[in-house]
Order: sequence, then C-alpha cells, then structure tokens
Amino acid sequence: MIVLTRRRFLGHSARVLATAAAWADGFPLDALRTGAAAAPVQTHPRFDRSPFTLGVASGDPTDDAVVLWTRLAPDPLAPGGGMPEEAVRVAWEVAEDERFAHIVARATTEAAPLRAHAVHVEVDGLRPARPYWYRFRVGSWESPVGRTRTAPEPSADVERVRLAFASCQHWEQGYFTAHRHLAQEDLDAVLFLGDYIYEYGSQENPVRAVAGPEATTLEGYRQRYAQYHTDPDLQAAHAAFPFIVTWDDHEVDNDYANDLSQENDPREAFLRRRAAAYQAYFEHMPLRAVRRPRGPDMPLYRSLPYGRLVDLSVLDTRQYRTPKPCGGRQSALCDGARAAGATILGERQREWLFDHLAASPARWHVLAQQVMMARLDLVAGPPEEFSMDKWTAYQPDAQAVLDYFGARKPSNPVVLSGDIHTSWACDLHAQPADQRSPIVATEFVGTSISSGRDGLEISARNQAILPENPHIKFHNGQRGYVRCTIGRDRWTTDYRVVPFVSRPGASVETRASLVVENGRPGVHRA
Ligand SMILES: [Fe+2]
Repeated sequence: MIVLTRRRFLGHSARVLATAAAWADGFPLDALRTGAAAAPVQTHPRFDRSPFTLGVASGDPTDDAVVLWTRLAPDPLAPGGGMPEEAVRVAWEVAEDERFAHIVARATTEAAPLRAHAVHVEVDGLRPARPYWYRFRVGSWESPVGRTRTAPEPSADVERVRLAFASCQHWEQGYFTAHRHLAQEDLDAVLFLGDYIYEYGSQENPVRAVAGPEATTLEGYRQRYAQYHTDPDLQAAHAAFPFIVTWDDHEVDNDYANDLSQENDPREAFLRRRAAAYQAYFEHMPLRAVRRPRGPDMPLYRSLPYGRLVDLSVLDTRQYRTPKPCGGRQSALCDGARAAGATILGERQREWLFDHLAASPARWHVLAQQVMMARLDLVAGPPEEFSMDKWTAYQPDAQAVLDYFGARKPSNPVVLSGDIHTSWACDLHAQPADQRSPIVATEFVGTSISSGRDGLEISARNQAILPENPHIKFHNGQRGYVRCTIGRDRWTTDYRVVPFVSRPGASVETRASLVVENGRPGVHRA
C-alpha cells in the first residue's frame, strides 16, 4: 500500500499544483506516484463500467487523520470482483468542501489483486473536529463522494459528541432501511458492533438471496462482502460518516470461539478458514494498516478518544475467548462458567483495557463490543438459564470488569453491545445476581439492522422473562439502530426503530429515549 501523508504532500506542492489540473482533466496522477510498487502498475486502466460499485467508506478518525476505503469491483459478484489480475493505480483526494474547491490532500495509491483491489488510504495532517469530503478516481471513472469527520483533539474540552451504533445486517432477512435513516442523522461517527455479514449460504424464503454457498474460503468471503457493499442504504451510511468497526461471530462462523468452530472442525482447518475470513474483513473495512491480519490473527481491539468527553474502547470478544462452557447451549451456570482462566477477552486484552481505562481522562468511557454483558435469565419461573455465548458464561472476566468499575471507578462506564437482534437498556450491578448491590455501569444493547426479519414490539418469551430481570429498564424487538447524544452532564440514548424490513421504504421513529446522568450509573427515562 502506498500512503502519501499531507505532510509529505506539502513537500511536493509544486507537483501537486501541476497534477491538480490533471485530475480535472480526467488524467491519472502519474506525477504523484510514490514508493516502489510490488507489481507492475497498470497506468491507464480501461473499464467499460464503473469499478466503484461497492461505494466508499472512511473510518477510525483521530484528531488529524482518517482512513479512506474503497474496493475496485466492476462486476462485484464475479471472481475477483471482475478485475484483471493486475495492480491498478487509484487517485484519491480530500477536500474541505463538498465541491472540492479547497483540496487539502491528494495522491495515488495502488489497488493490488492480492488484496482484492481494496484501497486503504491513511490521510493525516487534517484539522480536528471538522468534516472532509473525499473521492477516488481510476482512469475516467470517479467514485461517489464520501464525507468523513475528524475527531476533536484529545485534550479538547468538547461539549457534545453524537454517535450511532448498529449491528447484525443479514442480507437475506431484510433491507438495510435503517442505514438509509442513519445516513440522515447528524453524527460524529458510527460504531458497527458485528455481524457485518452472515456467512450462511442461501436460506429458505429469503427477502433477497445471497450469491454463493456458505462462505468458508477467501473468495467466498470476498464475494459476500462485495454483495453486502452493493447495498445502496449501507453505501449511504458509509458515505455519510466515518465507521468504527468491530466484529462478532458471523464474519467467520456462527458462535465460533477463538479456534473452535461451531461444527468443531479440526483446529488447523478452522484456523485456515479464520485467516481467510479475517483477511476479507480487513479488505472490506476502513481499518488502518496496523490492523492487518497475519494469518489467523488480527489485532482489532483499540481505543479512540473524542476529546476529554468520550473515550471509546473497541473490544474483540471472539478471537481470544476460551471455549463456551456448559455444553455451549443455553443452561444454568455450570462450573465451567466459573472456572479459573475462563475468559471472553483474553488476559492481554483485559489487562490492556484496565490499563487504558486507568490512564484515560475522559468523562464517559464507552466499551464498544459485541455481546451482552448484563445477566439475562432466559426462562420464566424459578430455574435460571443463560446463553453460553455472552459475558455471563465467562464469570471471571465479567466479574473482573464489574469489580474494576466498582473499585477503580473509571468515569461513567457505558457498555454498548449488539448480537441478539433486540434492544435492551440495562443497569449493571456490582454483583449481577444481587439487585441490591450498587449499579456500577450502564449497558445499551442495540437491535439488528435486518437480522430476525420484521421484528415485533416484544415476543411472548421476552414478555415472560422481563419480570425476572429487573435490571432491564427497556426492551423492544423491532429493527433499527441506536443514536447516542453525549454531553458533559448527560448521555441520551435514542432507540430508532423501523416497523418492517421485508420490503424497502419503512419510516423511522424514536421508540424510546433513555438517559444516563454524569456520575450516576444506570438507565433513566428521558
Ligand atoms: Fe447477529
């Protein structure tokens, strides 16, 4: 990958001026080619249709930098996206305005077949807390324009941050209408908390069919991501805001745990599949080069500050967890759930998280992650049963995090989760089984974009279990996304829901608004 930073760009200003006109003329930016290419670069690619069928995206903003993404795929579902087995020069530019009158960075980079002709550009030298517009060009084809936004300076005394979070977009189970509405919001960034794709082959009575069988190979995962990226609503959301992403299970295999597949495949075979899935994930997400996988390992957990107001810890509860206890199925807590060494984060990530929280001066500490942290008894009546895929199944880690919140008191911990295709707002108690123990944090679980099809207000099962889970302060079973408006004194969560996803065109409404007050963990009605 070739990256030209703005600082380097300023050193090349004469050549940039010369090539500024070249862009306007629809000419490849030969003069700005930097670095040594690994393969011969095709300088004058010719496409009979646009190679920008997958849209554009940006991600992981800091106060002076952001990642820009696209992937060239003139025929998105064809092997290799319909691209020739050659590297292709891609020009990009970033402007301070929508009309590209004030360009602040431009250069070329290379899209190589080894990386599915994906393009990742890390632009730096930007100004904090402001929007930028970007686009790519190959030959005479120009990409759609994306808008992104840098974060405030880490030391800035920020008044307000607006985020949305979403998860679980199953192509076959519905339209991504929620993304269409999300794109219309006024946000600093979007957090995507996993199940960006579903790996399954085509299922019965799909709302719309996926191409190809269950994804297990690099080509299979690439095709699946390509198909998802063709969705116009998803493209609109990516083009509107930077995304900060993490994954859950379906980016690889339903309910996998570290090196164990759902089907208990041989370890080596599953790790090969995981490596393919992680590579395709990297290729299709706006992530920095430092996140690039090495074989079956991908360093995804990280932190991003939004001034002194908000700190985001983006976690990975899939890659390092120990096997699911108690037979892996819904059950009472067995000894395995309490066994020393049972972990959902892995020791290194847990230590990193605690060190990071200890050093962060932020007012609000967000844990952006996959699966529900709150205890949730799934059966009505005296027996207690829990999902063995969530934090409750990993008691040592779940309790360590709650103990950390209680003892070290990081300012205002707020856990954001996805995975279960329904909305839940939860008080997190110091001792989850004891409702009288102090509330030490707040959790908002967001529903799905489309998984679970149209959804409903509340299922009979969830109606029956709510009285046994009094720490749940809100629940809803419709599709949508979650908007968070974060101020110094108050955090407001708006559950934005759409009434159906089985056909396009649903409207959006705020189903509930919930509040967390600074210094007072727990959910309250707005
Ligand atoms: Fe899901």
